[in-house]
Amino acid sequence: PDKAVAAMARQEPATLAELNRIILAADPLVPGATQAVPGEGPVGAAIAIVGEQPGDQEDLEGRPFVGPAGQLLTRALEEAGIERSAAYLTNAVKHFKFVARGKRRLHQSPTAGEVKHYRWWLMKELGFVRPRLVVTLGATAALALTGRSVSVLRERGPMGFGDWNGFVTVHPSYLLRLPAGETAEQAYRDFVADLRRAREMVG
Ligand code: URA
Repeated sequence: PDKAVAAMARQEPATLAELNRIILAADPLVPGATQAVPGEGPVGAAIAIVGEQPGDQEDLEGRPFVGPAGQLLTRALEEAGIERSAAYLTNAVKHFKFVARGKRRLHQSPTAGEVKHYRWWLMKELGFVRPRLVVTLGATAALALTGRSVSVLRERGPMGFGDWNGFVTVHPSYLLRLPAGETAEQAYRDFVADLRRAREMVG
């Protein structure tokens, strides 16, 4: 990790592509990930969406939001009138962290220290993309943008993130963990409503 920090300080990327080359070449802070997963989407996207960290499938494919939570996000974006390919999608932490349970790799949330370690990359990314609105999914992404612990269910909605206009909402993996039923359906509708409101904020 110290080596990675020193390397980052030496490298000052001039473009998003250069930043992504640095991200892809860096070792994970916690060993185990197959590869780094950089952000995806156009520079100049009106909306940037920030998740927590790549999951199992993202780690294998090298793309953000392609697993179950990503599929739910893609559906919700569509219902909210946001074209996934027009948004910039990324994560607070760029490597998958997990514990092995037999053949399964169980996701482990990043620590606050890990979020801080990766924050330099996230801020650089946003600096290149220059979105009009940054939407955080879940508490880890909100922590990365605010530097404090955010209760996403209580504080969901518009929030200033320093240089960025922000919007806090839940993470789609939270929706997947709710037992199927009316509560889960309502939680999904609330998520879509948040995304729609975010879309309206960028006009
Ligand atoms: N969850 C995230 O936060 N990000 C991904 O890329 C996938 C799942």
